[in-house]
Amino acid sequence: MEIKVVDNASAVEADILVVNQFEGEKTTNDLANKYAVEEDNFKGKFGETYLLPTYGNAPYRKVLVLGFGKKEDFCPNKFREAVAKSVKKAMQMEAKKVAFLFEGVDFDYSEQFTMGAFIADYKFDKYKSEKKDNHIKEVFVQASEQGVRKAEKIATAMAFARNLANEPAQFATPAELASIAQDLGLDTKIYDKEECEKMGMGAFLAVGQGSINEPKFIHMKYTCENPKKKIAIIGKGICFDSGGLDIKPASSMLTMKDDMSGAACVLGVMSIIREFNPQVEVHGIIAACENMPGGKAYKPGDILTAKNGKTIEVDNTDAEGRLTLADALCYACELGVDEVIDLATLTGACMVALGTHAAGIMGNDEALVHNLIETAKQCGERFWELPLWEEYFDSLKSDVADMKNSGSRWGGASAAGVFLQKFVKDVKWAHIDIAGTAFLEKPQKEFISGATGAGVRTLLNYILK
Ligand code: BES
Ligand code: MN
Ligand code: ZN
Repeated sequence: MEIKVVDNASAVEADILVVNQFEGEKTTNDLANKYAVEEDNFKGKFGETYLLPTYGNAPYRKVLVLGFGKKEDFCPNKFREAVAKSVKKAMQMEAKKVAFLFEGVDFDYSEQFTMGAFIADYKFDKYKSEKKDNHIKEVFVQASEQGVRKAEKIATAMAFARNLANEPAQFATPAELASIAQDLGLDTKIYDKEECEKMGMGAFLAVGQGSINEPKFIHMKYTCENPKKKIAIIGKGICFDSGGLDIKPASSMLTMKDDMSGAACVLGVMSIIREFNPQVEVHGIIAACENMPGGKAYKPGDILTAKNGKTIEVDNTDAEGRLTLADALCYACELGVDEVIDLATLTGACMVALGTHAAGIMGNDEALVHNLIETAKQCGERFWELPLWEEYFDSLKSDVADMKNSGSRWGGASAAGVFLQKFVKDVKWAHIDIAGTAFLEKPQKEFISGATGAGVRTLLNYILK
């Protein structure tokens, strides 16, 4: 899909011209007003569409009236969702050239238009033997060139992340993630099992023990001259989470190829960062492994030693993400960065609390957390702060080690957060639990089912701020 910025969308020769209608109002298109609004009483409720042929009386073959709903309820998020809706409709009709003409929208919609169009255009059909090419080839819109080009790059990174998280675990192995990282053309170091042993990553390595696919620790670095700030982004990279010996029931295991969505996000961000050339040094870190119940698997009761020397009693082998992140956080804190941000499909509890509509965020620095929440809001994601009170550590106290990796069922997202905090030292840190938002079992708003590329938009916008 190619987005072309034009001065007058209604003069473009296209298969479809999309025009908007606020609920109860008219559109800017005479044909639409005559047939859809007046004759057929089309109201323009949010997300509704009305299709009308032009029979050669206009440069476009059809007009698609797109309901924007009540003007007072309208916002950039609604705009993006509506755009996605119309793009999907145009794809169903196998339109190749689609022009968009918006009126009465009182914000700069260039970025949200582009995001909506690209998110809707996404498919994961590489394993379908019969592929249907119903992608729109050219899109015409009156928007700012700069906004469109920026969002286009972010959308590309999102699609990159979605592809990775949608990829079955049989292919998206730790070694495969490492090779993808290596191919991004950044300054990248891959540590194998022996090197991780030397670094003392006993928590990360324990998780990977039960799989025949060896763990890989990935460190990518983007740098520039005189960076204004240095940050590290860490993505949970469990390529498959069977639960380990504390094995998951079948229904919970079904989507667990997505347990590397944090890693996919980090790879997505790192895949595009050079094209933005920001004045920020960015480290992308992934402790990639599989959580499997093989003969060498780590066991409940085992006591692990993390990179910072802290000992962890394994209470539940299914609380594996925090173990891999513990070592990744220690590693990141030694890089001398100003901020560390981790993204992880970490807890079912976060998903229970917030559903698929928001990621949980917590951290040790109010300004960083609020900045991320605000950035997310502006670019169409939702982060919701959860507490990190020390009391949540009570249930993680161990009789035989410094802590346990899981405890009470209650407040599980915050307990995971305080666990992670034990491995954070002298740095501003935020933890984003994307368990609910990374992967959809059913379509939701502009997304089809499957991976959503959670975090990519927000992290890139945050880095570019
Ligand atoms: N990867 C899961 C969390 C998850 C659940 C992500 C559902 C996406 C959807 C994580 O490793 C896990 O198994 N967490 C356990 C922790 C518990 C054993 C303390 C959980 O949330 O049940
Ligand atoms: Mn697990
Ligand atoms: Zn997991």
